[in-house]
Amino acid sequence: MLPGCFPLRWQGGGEHSGETMSLEAIRYSRGSLQILNQLLLPQQSHYEAVGSVRQAWEAIRAMKVRGAPAIALVGCLSLSVELQEGAGGPGLAALLAFVRDALSFLVTARPTAVNMARAARDLADAAALEAEREGATEEAVRERVIRYAEDMLEKDLKDNQSIGDLGAHHLLERTAPGGGKVTVLTHCNTGALATAGYGTALETRPYNQGARLTAFELVYEQIPATLIADSMAAAAMAHRGVSAVVVGADRVVANGDTANKVGTYQLAIAARHHGIPFYVAAPSSSCDLRLETGQEIVIEERPGQELTDVNGVRIAAPGIGVWNPAFDVTPHDLITGGIITELGVFAPEELRAALSATIS
Ligand code: MRU
Repeated sequence: MLPGCFPLRWQGGGEHSGETMSLEAIRYSRGSLQILNQLLLPQQSHYEAVGSVRQAWEAIRAMKVRGAPAIALVGCLSLSVELQEGAGGPGLAALLAFVRDALSFLVTARPTAVNMARAARDLADAAALEAEREGATEEAVRERVIRYAEDMLEKDLKDNQSIGDLGAHHLLERTAPGGGKVTVLTHCNTGALATAGYGTALETRPYNQGARLTAFELVYEQIPATLIADSMAAAAMAHRGVSAVVVGADRVVANGDTANKVGTYQLAIAARHHGIPFYVAAPSSSCDLRLETGQEIVIEERPGQELTDVNGVRIAAPGIGVWNPAFDVTPHDLITGGIITELGVFAPEELRAALSATIS
């Protein structure tokens, strides 16, 4: 099963009979990029073409595509599509400037998840290095950028599989060493993280991502799951037998503090109170060793309408003020289970040493 965020490629059976179905949040082949418009789920599965960096920026900002890794992938692949069409240049300097500007622009779409910022930095460096080679050509730089984004897509898929395997083994050993049922409570949409047969999907206000996306995935994957509202989490822990809490991450910083969908912090507090292990599952590309503590993370604030309206219908009293941060920061000491990455499961205090050879 694929953990992480909304999976890029999704194997599942569901009500679509015995054969293996594949649901993809991102469809890419060289020169062509499409995204599943997640604003329309679960009612409609509609793919939209993304033909330019600007369109990717708009889709990310509007949350047609969302989740830290998917944001970076769509951003970088949209640049690949433009380059494949011949954008940028003529000349090496103009091409490099085009790539740098496009990446800097993409980073501004949403600030909290680190993945797009990291990819922008690494991809711009890769392009510059290629341009410095003896006999470098515009074509070679173009190819380097396109290939880099394509490799990211492949790596993300592999990382998700590793996180799922490592997380599943760890969870089973810790919560059900003799076998038996494991109940996992999750938040927002982090994809179909492995459970041993039973899961609990938690609704996520203000944007209903638990009900719209995670519930959709779990039904599709035929993982037994129960939808609850955010306000029911502590009661579920007290009365419904929660074995572990597993959430995703938009940015995990050097000391293990973690930004994830708003509401994660209160879940961690409730889990601590009930002695339930609390896990963060995230690829190393979501980790940011450049920031020391969670206080340095910029938290995105979204339009108030996401809270006052549901499906375009106003439910809040007219005139009320709204605060709508998209994320909150869970302090590392509340991440009692560990941080599950593709490289292993680490205690927050081990993260820096474990990842410093791989990422910055
Ligand atoms: O606002 P979103 O939907 O982009 O937020 C998604 C989350 O917070 C996820 O938990 C996180 O990005 C991890 S996805 C692997």
